[in-house]
Amino acid sequence: MHTDLALKYNTPVPRYTSYPTVPSWQDIPDPKAWKTAIERQMDEDNVQKGISLYIHLPFCESLCIYCGCTKRITTNHSVEEEYISAVLAEWQLYIDLLPYPPMIRELHLGGGTPTFFSPGNLERLIKGILNKATLHPSYSFSIEGHPNNTTRTHLDALYGLGFRRISYGVQDLNPEVQQLIHRIQPLENVQRATDEARAAGFSSVNFDLIYGLPAQNLDRLQYTIQQSLHLRPDRVAFYSYAHIPEVSSSQRLIDESLLPSPVQKLELYHHGRQLFMDAGYTDIGMDHFALPTDELYQVWRDGSLHRNFMGYTVQKSNFMLGLGLSAISDTGYAYVQNTKSLREYYRSIASGEPAIRKGYFLTPEDRAFRRHILDIACSAYTTLDRTWETQLREWTLPALRDLEEDGLVRVQDDEVSLTKEGQPFLRHVCKAFDLHLLRRLFMRV
Ligand SMILES: C[S@@+](CC[C@H](N)C(=O)[O-])C[C@H]1O[C@@H](n2cnc3c(N)ncnc32)[C@H](O)[C@@H]1O
Ligand code: SF4
Repeated sequence: MHTDLALKYNTPVPRYTSYPTVPSWQDIPDPKAWKTAIERQMDEDNVQKGISLYIHLPFCESLCIYCGCTKRITTNHSVEEEYISAVLAEWQLYIDLLPYPPMIRELHLGGGTPTFFSPGNLERLIKGILNKATLHPSYSFSIEGHPNNTTRTHLDALYGLGFRRISYGVQDLNPEVQQLIHRIQPLENVQRATDEARAAGFSSVNFDLIYGLPAQNLDRLQYTIQQSLHLRPDRVAFYSYAHIPEVSSSQRLIDESLLPSPVQKLELYHHGRQLFMDAGYTDIGMDHFALPTDELYQVWRDGSLHRNFMGYTVQKSNFMLGLGLSAISDTGYAYVQNTKSLREYYRSIASGEPAIRKGYFLTPEDRAFRRHILDIACSAYTTLDRTWETQLREWTLPALRDLEEDGLVRVQDDEVSLTKEGQPFLRHVCKAFDLHLLRRLFMRV
């Protein structure tokens, strides 16, 4: 492990689930232009390919103080009905815009905590969505579950609705760390939720783990990973803890003196990565590991891996629609994000307007550089598009030269590939194509 490199690249870099990333988006995009973008994208081709649907379910029963997601903490479950009605009304708004009933290829329930909702309410939601759509022959439904409140009844109901993939937030299994992050989640709960998902028929179980949390050290990380690997998750997302107390007020409760240093954090990453590799997992890229039996590994090997707001995905749909609080949509030409205010969300939907608050319409330059970023993130390789020679010379090639000197990439004529040493720095290689970020950084100098 190169300590110098760890320190040099110890700067926050986006995860590139979109390009341009959210800081470049405008505050309130024109709703009319957004509707036109949807109509434009729903041509015959996309009707046949199917769409990806993301539904954000924001409620959680208790606050994990490290959490950077959009959530509302409550133990009052009467919020479920109103929220589901609003999401279904939002879906109807889009149905009214589309020339054909959409075909759903991929559906993901994220949060917050989707399993906060009762099995009956989840059923009402999914049936309400599917009533207005058709299903792609190779559809894929997935959900984020909390091990503390995912019950066998949830799993059976979800399986019956067509869900085959579940992702559990495991984070860290040490009681000392769990106390410090306010997420008490005994190993037995993770074990039970995993066993029950498999017994219910789920074919892929993912665990989210985080490194860089307070009081984590190599021994504690090893304990979390070894206990997790006993349960043999099909995939693991091994996230770097993003500490942004300026943005997330609950993170201000974290004792910063207990956070691992940048060098320790990189040691945690390398140690964790080695444990996954030794156990037969493959590093798919950007914090994701998968067993060779998992579909994600298979598409990665075939070179057809894709990336969108849900992270890595096996489905390459060109149209992703997000419903619910803070949800993001992507038509290929435009991004929009819904409001993060629950009151505003309810008000917009009730008045018959999409609840969008931020967005961005991509230029041809954006589309070209997004292709490079996706190539690097999904296949560690890209071929430079010389149509954009001026931009490449001014921004990307100097950044790549720097990365090449550090041994992280290889550049030969128009071909750019990541080296083995470059793998942990994948986001920094993507950054070489992020003209928005590079221009912003230059303006600040
Ligand atoms: C929105 S959460 C949904 C999972 C579910 N609510 C749970 O906690 O079990 C998705 C994942 O984001 C990750 N996450 C949340 N906050 C993070 C942060 N500040 N840094 C890194 N990862 C974070 C966690 O691993 C979490 O499982
Ligand atoms: S980590 Fe999951 S359960 Fe915890 S606050 Fe965030 S979204 Fe809710």
